[in-house]
Amino acid sequence: MFSEKIQKGLIKQLNRELESSQLYLSMATWVERKGYEGICEFLYDHSNEERIHMLKLIRYINKRGGNVILYDLLHVNTTYISLKELFMKLLEHEKKISKEINFLVEISLQEKDYFTYNFLQWYVEEQIEEEALSKTILDKIELIGEDKGGLYLFDKDMKSSHKNIKL
Ligand code: FEO
Repeated sequence: MFSEKIQKGLIKQLNRELESSQLYLSMATWVERKGYEGICEFLYDHSNEERIHMLKLIRYINKRGGNVILYDLLHVNTTYISLKELFMKLLEHEKKISKEINFLVEISLQEKDYFTYNFLQWYVEEQIEEEALSKTILDKIELIGEDKGGLYLFDKDMKSSHKNIKL
């Protein structure tokens, strides 16, 4: 069993992952409506990945004898101004999640909970990848700008490559 402080932090984090899943779902549905077949597949997959992040936390809490609490889901906007705005939000969101993971790592060290410290290393690695990937996509979208042909090719590229992208 872990401390109350650790349990509270882990519960907060699992609910953040659930919110992330819902956020990416909202992005995927907007992008699909706009006709971007590749980018929407990437975002739907990303939404599923976030759910897996949540499940890993739930399973860990249960394994350590804790009690899982699921918060009510927030209402998420499903309208975006542009792909650029959407991916800017995505990157900001991932940066926020990274800060929260770092905070949790800090608490686990303060509490001398080395099991949780070890468990969280997977999330630390994951956040490095997710931030880098979001930044790469945003950079590409900024580079393409208003070029419709460029966006078409980028979307096509995402469609063929998203299965190989590690989230
Ligand atoms: Fe589970 Fe994208 O952080």
